[in-house]
Amino acid sequence: MILSRETPHFLPTKGMKSEYYDRIFSMNIKRRVIPTEEIEKQLAICSEVRKEFEGKIPLALVDTFGCQQNEEDSEKIRGYLAEMGFEMTDDEFKADLIVINTCAVREHAEMRVFGNLGALTHAKKENPNQIIAVCGCMVQQEHIVDKIKKSFRHVDLVFGPDELWRFPELIYTVMTKRKRIFAPGSGDGCVAEGIPHLRSDKVKAWLSIMNGCNNFCTYCIVPYTRFRERSRQPGEIIAEARELVAAGYKDITLLGQNVNSYGKDLESSVNFAQLIRKVNDIEGDFVIRFMTSHPKDATDELFAAMRDCEKCEKHLHLPLQSGSDRILKAMNRYYNTEKYLALVDRVREFIPDIVLTTDIIVGFPGETDEDFEDTMRVIEKVRFDAMFTFIYSKRVGTPAAEMPDPFTREQKQAHFDRLVETQNRISEEKHREYIGKTVRVLIDGKDREDGVLTARTSGGRLVRVSGGESLIGSFVYVNITDCNTWALRGELV
Ligand code: 5AD
Ligand code: SF4
Repeated sequence: MILSRETPHFLPTKGMKSEYYDRIFSMNIKRRVIPTEEIEKQLAICSEVRKEFEGKIPLALVDTFGCQQNEEDSEKIRGYLAEMGFEMTDDEFKADLIVINTCAVREHAEMRVFGNLGALTHAKKENPNQIIAVCGCMVQQEHIVDKIKKSFRHVDLVFGPDELWRFPELIYTVMTKRKRIFAPGSGDGCVAEGIPHLRSDKVKAWLSIMNGCNNFCTYCIVPYTRFRERSRQPGEIIAEARELVAAGYKDITLLGQNVNSYGKDLESSVNFAQLIRKVNDIEGDFVIRFMTSHPKDATDELFAAMRDCEKCEKHLHLPLQSGSDRILKAMNRYYNTEKYLALVDRVREFIPDIVLTTDIIVGFPGETDEDFEDTMRVIEKVRFDAMFTFIYSKRVGTPAAEMPDPFTREQKQAHFDRLVETQNRISEEKHREYIGKTVRVLIDGKDREDGVLTARTSGGRLVRVSGGESLIGSFVYVNITDCNTWALRGELV
């Protein structure tokens, strides 16, 4: 076997199914570019769908689970829906069309989707013409599609993330032929330009720069649901960023499963650090954020770009996953704790006040008390500003699902609780360091419950500020007066 970038570098353990390898090697790693004429055709079909409603304004509900990449996909679905003449609603009983955009990363999200889907039988009973569609990462898994086919007969349409570009055609067929359609995707990833967006925010915008993942962390389903890495052409990204700035967006987040490997699949020589510099060169008052970075691909060139670009926010989300070298190896993460800690030192040399956040998985198969204590030591050493913590969730078809997992849910939960408690303390201590300081923030919204304005620091920390709604979308200076684990309290200067 020849090892390549697409090949996981760990070796199969005894008993691990070779199907895993078969699936990796059978996946098409080429870019499938959808021609612009195809998208134009889809836009023409939108007008046909509009006609089907005969002058009535139809209503659609789009419910999104999971990551920012899914949020961005939902904005495209809403973009197409707007072209079809739909207006949006939150009421499932009023909706003519419901789209559930699903996430497969953990079982919990899948259970919620099935719960919501089950509840929709009531809405469909009252409105038998209602169309129910399920899309996203979950439906890229065969066993899930089978379950929907058999047990959720009120679902009319199923389509995978790489079939989204032909959503109008799928809807049109369901409407006119009145039959169920299952289009989970062909197993290769595509790149499609020109799909309209209906964005959900006026200040912050997601800008997807790539899709898919080549890393095959052994616990993760994403490489199977989103396929291999495909980068968008730099010209397309810059053009979209310019449009966003011209439309008044102030906060642009460059999105990808592993942004640090942006461009490696393209002939153009623009890498991620250079892409940041290019977006930074766009004139206007806005900030650039990005996520997510794999530690194995974070370089000095990236840190230098972050330091040099005045619009690039000083925040790095660098998932550690575990602080045990043994577990990191079993996770196929390509680094050990020594390398990770050296990387943290390095980024702090470039940008001393960098805000660092991370992801940790507790209870990976076979994780012992000692492994967990190793993680706790790394956490205390790095002192992350914030952390996303997850209990390991077994994903069918991934190598970790085949690894012995002898520890109980209670044991894992006890570790999880200790980790959260420790991180909460560290987050609050780090927040306390802001008190008395004046910081520049972007006011990006309003708390729905108490009406207090919400803002983000350069490092992405949440600040709650009293003030008028007209400030939303402005950069202001605030004095930090108080804090808790999750937020800072500020007063306008
Ligand atoms: N179980 C628990 N957490 C997971 N993640 C990915 N896959 C799993 C899984 N099977 C977490 C990782 C990743 C984040 C987006 O979700 O920490 O960084
Ligand atoms: Fe999943 Fe992220 Fe690992 Fe890719 S890098 S396999 S998306 S955890």
